Amino acid sequence: MLQGKGVLLGVTGSIAIYKAVDLASKLVQLGAPVDVVMTASATKMVSPITFQAIVHGRVATDMFDPTSELGMDHLALARRAAVAVVAPATANTMAKLALGLADDVLSTTFLAASCPHLVAPAMDSVMFQHPTTQENLARLKAQGWLVVGPDYGRLASGEVGPGRLAPLEKIIAAIRGALGRGGDLAGRQVVVTAGGTQEPIDPVRYIGNRSSGKMGFALAEAARDRGASVSLIAGPTSISPPPGMAVVMVTTALEMKEAVQKEAAGADVLIMAAAVADFRAEEIAAAKIKKAGEAVTLRLVLNPDILKEVRGDIVRVGFAAESEELEANAQKKLLEKRLDLIVANDITAPDSGFGSDTNRVVLIAPGREIERLPLLLKTQVAHRVLDRVVELLMRRVVGPAGIERP
Ligand SMILES: Cc1cc2nc3c(=O)[nH]c(=O)nc-3n(C[C@H](O)[C@H](O)[C@H](O)COP(=O)(O)O)c2cc1C
Repeated sequence: MLQGKGVLLGVTGSIAIYKAVDLASKLVQLGAPVDVVMTASATKMVSPITFQAIVHGRVATDMFDPTSELGMDHLALARRAAVAVVAPATANTMAKLALGLADDVLSTTFLAASCPHLVAPAMDSVMFQHPTTQENLARLKAQGWLVVGPDYGRLASGEVGPGRLAPLEKIIAAIRGALGRGGDLAGRQVVVTAGGTQEPIDPVRYIGNRSSGKMGFALAEAARDRGASVSLIAGPTSISPPPGMAVVMVTTALEMKEAVQKEAAGADVLIMAAAVADFRAEEIAAAKIKKAGEAVTLRLVLNPDILKEVRGDIVRVGFAAESEELEANAQKKLLEKRLDLIVANDITAPDSGFGSDTNRVVLIAPGREIERLPLLLKTQVAHRVLDRVVELLMRRVVGPAGIERP
């Protein structure tokens, strides 16, 4: 997503500046060419040399430096940026940006940047809550700036409150989202389910499965990066859901069904990557079941089929995690649930399926040849699935006659 995309990083005189060094490094590692502009206050806190060594490029600190390329073309940095972000942004710089002041290299460059632009404020909570700062923030939002954070938490002063720089993953996710605004899923509402459900037996025990949530999270992230507005419905997982989307956390299959029905209403795409329990305990014991020296019989009842019950003009993608007869079982599911696409994977393979970062999947769709993908990273699988989703959406625009349904 960031490969080869120019990022203009504006750095100001906030104590959170040390995090901007890491942000620059992470962006470079993601393949982005990064240009840095620093305010005079910022250079008093961290030397430009630090940023220079990280981004392997020029760091602009002075518009009137005759040795800088800005001496010849003071807007060069603004023109080559695909996305521009001020992180951290002081109250002072936000005020200048909101008013269109251009009295230093950062404010001038950002005023001249027509690419998507973001601001990540960081300051003391009293400064942040000051009516003038709030007015400036509102003005920036109204002008089309994407505002990331600030978070609530411990501040440099030792106080706890709003004003903490947003986590770097959140800033990077917002940068990726801003770059994807013109992507092939722009304007689309995509619902993704992820993780496994847990079906309670008593207050301490449950029936679960080994789904890690990684495949669903990769799909949600890829859809966000391609411009979609994403709702992620996730069962309990040990990894954090990606930022930049609406997240609904659920526990049981029945809760997931309710959330899917709510989120899928009016959506364009539903991708069910979650491993939803097929069965639940018929009765949930009110107290912990005691060990009484004899076997316990647990009666299980069938959970509803969530995908089957979602109706309407929505592209429906299912997953088939199979341990035998992969393609035959997936075909059966595709027909039974009347899906547009099924992604089948063999969960007994050590390098794919639950928990791993890679997956080897087969894509099966009505009226299409079966596509057997090689072993790929789950992020790559996600994009291949979304390529097919985009095709399905385009066929719908052309007309339903183009869609062969089982
Ligand atoms: C140690 C130190 C830490 C500071 N941290 C912040 C901060 O986190 N946020 C902020 O808005 N201002 C902070 N300031 C104040 C700004 O540096 C000051 O308002 C400055 O004029 C900002 O200039 P700039 O926006 O051009 O970078 C800090 C000042 C000092 C001395």
